[in-house]
Amino acid sequence: MQAYNVLAPGPVNLHPEVQKALALPMIHHRTPEFDAILKRVLTRLKVIFETDQPCFALTSTGSGGMEALLVNTLSKGDHVLGIDSGKFGERWCEMAEVFGARVTVHKVKWGEAVKVADVRRILEQNPDIKIVMCQACETSTGIKHPIQELGALIHERAQTLFLVDGITALGAFALPMDEWHIDGLVGGSQKAFMLPTGLAMISFSKKAWKAIENNPQPRFYFDIRKEQKANAKGETFFSSNVTLLRALDVVLEMIMAKGLPAHFAEIRKRAEFTRLFAQKLGLKLYAEVPSESLTAVVVPDGMDSQKLRLLLEERFGITLMGGQDQAKGKILRIGHMGHITPEQMIDVMLKLAEILKSENPGLSLPLSLEKEMRSFWNV
Ligand SMILES: Cc1ncc(COP(=O)(O)O)c(C=O)c1O
Repeated sequence: MQAYNVLAPGPVNLHPEVQKALALPMIHHRTPEFDAILKRVLTRLKVIFETDQPCFALTSTGSGGMEALLVNTLSKGDHVLGIDSGKFGERWCEMAEVFGARVTVHKVKWGEAVKVADVRRILEQNPDIKIVMCQACETSTGIKHPIQELGALIHERAQTLFLVDGITALGAFALPMDEWHIDGLVGGSQKAFMLPTGLAMISFSKKAWKAIENNPQPRFYFDIRKEQKANAKGETFFSSNVTLLRALDVVLEMIMAKGLPAHFAEIRKRAEFTRLFAQKLGLKLYAEVPSESLTAVVVPDGMDSQKLRLLLEERFGITLMGGQDQAKGKILRIGHMGHITPEQMIDVMLKLAEILKSENPGLSLPLSLEKEMRSFWNV
């Protein structure tokens, strides 16, 4: 089977130690060995979430985690403000509607960050808003939203909760849940947690726990009160995802050994590299406030980003993503999460240059490109 270099905004390249952990023989979840793993994982997740509150690792994709945040805090008829700046914001609004919310959708132009003043105005005009939902990074555009400022604004309102989709953010850059007054936060295993798809990590603030306790909304699989009770006994409510939790333990051990700031700095450096050299290749940045977790770049007029990504995959085994919906054919999205060496970063950029040149022989590229890239990484 061909080995791919997966620089998508999830899933991501796996670290060799994670691959080893995934290949270990099965153990039962009712064993002292697994009990120790679960305890360690749930404790260490608090470091990533930067919270004193309990953290949970649910067996589901990221969307299940988004649903868990909603079904635990939302009741039928509640007024919700959804910030829709791309595919995932749009989907979260749809989800809230399915659970009976009255959703005010605040559409933000693709590639732009939400303006805090606009959210303040909407909240002032609608004092009954119970929940505000926002992506920390909207993966379809690569934008990073002002979560700290939104948290400060929403925190002033005793009856309003701030739910954040950190699926391509949590673990890639700082999202200190307690300090930034985030009331519900979700991360996904196939993103900055550097694992295969299948776990959603979530946590709730003290303010959210009050809403959870008083919420009449029916819920079962994602009833966080039951998960919390089970976790307190050292168990999970349903069968534990032994394989992924064991691999998560390995990832968290690596991050703890490195230190969170150093881990974030590595991802930031990949983002800086991509932004710098993509622009040298004549590609413009799509997002006005680019996230550290991925970079979206606009391909030159007359080129189709979908074709470019296919050529990269077929010729070189490199996986980048194209655009979705209105950005289809127009942008390439390059992920910075997961196990990526400087050599892999350089290789992707050089191969991208090669493909761009093959599509546009008139393109002039600096001769010293590889040398400049090597000097950036010191390799
Ligand atoms: C910001 C964001 N939210 C939600 C999702 C959905 O996650 P999943 O596909 O794991 O359900 C994704 C997946 O790419 C995402 O990037």
